[in-house]
Amino acid sequence: MTVTPQRILDVEAVRADFPFLEEFVDGRPFAFLDSAASAQKPRQVIDGLADFYRHSYANVHRGVYALADRATAGYEDAREKVRAFLNAASEREIIFTRGTTEGINLVAYAWGLDNLGPGDVVVATDLDHHSNFVPWQYIAGRSGATFATIPVDDAGDLVLEELDRIAGLGRIKVVAAGWVSNALGTVNPVELLVAWAKEHGAISVIDAAQAAPHRAIDVQALGCDFLALSAHKLCGPTSVGALYGRAELLERMSPFQLGGHMIRQVRHDRTTWGELPAKFEAGTASIVEAVGFGLAIDYLQDIGLDAIEAHEHALVEYALERLPEVPGITLYGPPASRRAGVVAFNLGDIHPHDVAQVLGFEGVCIRAGHHCTQPLLRRLDLAATNRASFYLYTTRAEIDRLVDGLHLVSGKLG
Ligand SMILES: Cc1ncc(COP(=O)(O)O)c(C=O)c1O
Repeated sequence: MTVTPQRILDVEAVRADFPFLEEFVDGRPFAFLDSAASAQKPRQVIDGLADFYRHSYANVHRGVYALADRATAGYEDAREKVRAFLNAASEREIIFTRGTTEGINLVAYAWGLDNLGPGDVVVATDLDHHSNFVPWQYIAGRSGATFATIPVDDAGDLVLEELDRIAGLGRIKVVAAGWVSNALGTVNPVELLVAWAKEHGAISVIDAAQAAPHRAIDVQALGCDFLALSAHKLCGPTSVGALYGRAELLERMSPFQLGGHMIRQVRHDRTTWGELPAKFEAGTASIVEAVGFGLAIDYLQDIGLDAIEAHEHALVEYALERLPEVPGITLYGPPASRRAGVVAFNLGDIHPHDVAQVLGFEGVCIRAGHHCTQPLLRRLDLAATNRASFYLYTTRAEIDRLVDGLHLVSGKLG
């Protein structure tokens, strides 16, 4: 048996790639603990974007000149990189989108409106980001289907014992769930949810916005029908993401948006659709952003998703060990063993926005609010939390700065 040694992440070498660390506030670099909202970009991505604009830019697919060929090759290479990143069987199954939200809306509209009706049940979870919760709630409402959610317990884990009750509500047609919670860091048992969907003949839709940046994904091994991700959360540009969809389903679906390159033939009496993936890519694509997405994937794969996951796990363990030192702190979410690089907390009665603002003066960047998870916060009887989130460039020293900053907040406002 060959044993592949796990790669170790050299955080100082990684940090040398990130120009934002050359920015200072009051003589100190930023402790950027807000990567769950959007990740910083390495120079490999930033320079690659400028390079593409300089040397390879034109619109894709339509031109017959060398520059257009170069642009199309760059765009389609990026699609191949996303395919390999997710281990999809074919590039036809990779649709470029504006991000996770658009990917989920694509499935909800294009699959949901044609396949859902009264008696059907669409299942999401109470942990979900609004981008997975709201489209399904809305499309269920429009089609007359029942919208149901898997509840969460006090620790922020899904209550899987509720699945049988939910199955009793009608025909389960969609199981849509986040893999990793952006609000609490909970890693959901998506394998189990995909298997449950299959058992009921339902489609499974995985929101991988917070999973794809931090762990290796194999859609064939997982067996899901759809999976959506965003480039900006994995060190790539904004306004681009991808939807993986099983070709068989995508082929049977109506298009989502209409116009541009997604057609085969347009006549006055009828329009026919192009082949996959073009059928789902209406209008001018986010060409350069897609190329940057590919560069970000190269970057993460060079470091190793396993090494990134292990690095973040160690940081979360460290943060959960140190944060209880702060007087009045309440931590939310599961233990480190079931959690990705996110910690959520409140500091006594101090409003989370005040906590985040005082930390901001110290150069410690965290987020405060409902994190686009209002149903979850309502369940936990909270209006808002503070959230610190970690990525491959995060250090223990930055977590120390968070803890010191919280002591300061506590002293000032507590
Ligand atoms: C779990 C989760 N799902 C979906 C989204 C939406 O991603 P985007 O805004 O890139 O479409 C986010 C963004 O924060 C997220 O954290």
